[in-house]
Amino acid sequence: MKVALASDHAGYELKIGITKYLVERGIDFYDFGCGPGENVDYVDYGEKAAQKVSSGEYTRAILCCGTGLGMAIVANKYSGIRATPCYDGYTAELSRQHNDSNCLTLGGRILPLDEALEIVKIWLETDFEEGRHRQRINKILQVEERNFKT
Ligand code: RB5
Repeated sequence: MKVALASDHAGYELKIGITKYLVERGIDFYDFGCGPGENVDYVDYGEKAAQKVSSGEYTRAILCCGTGLGMAIVANKYSGIRATPCYDGYTAELSRQHNDSNCLTLGGRILPLDEALEIVKIWLETDFEEGRHRQRINKILQVEERNFKT
């Protein structure tokens, strides 16, 4: 597992907390920015990380902004990305089991660090269920093929 991390200013502190969590568990990751004290557009940083997962260089992405919503919107513009904003353990679990989420988006203005880390843990450790959900993922890929230019 290789995780592409990114945030804007509103998700920066949360990203740093997640960074520490990944280091402690020996999970391979790279932080694509932003840096401390910057005021940036989430689009630019979400794009950097999502592109790495879309190309297959990284397995998963974790993107933090104020709400997790803007990051999800931009990441889902990339083919092969299934970005899911998660707000609790239940959505994190189902995003993996049913949606095979490969991009977790989190809101630094919404989630306290302990809740966010619980979501990260569940999201990283839960497997896709396959079965009936596989055909739905395949249909999403077909939608991409019909509509994405990249
Ligand atoms: C930044 O103020 C905020 O709009 C951004 O972090 C994010 O929440 C957008 O979806």
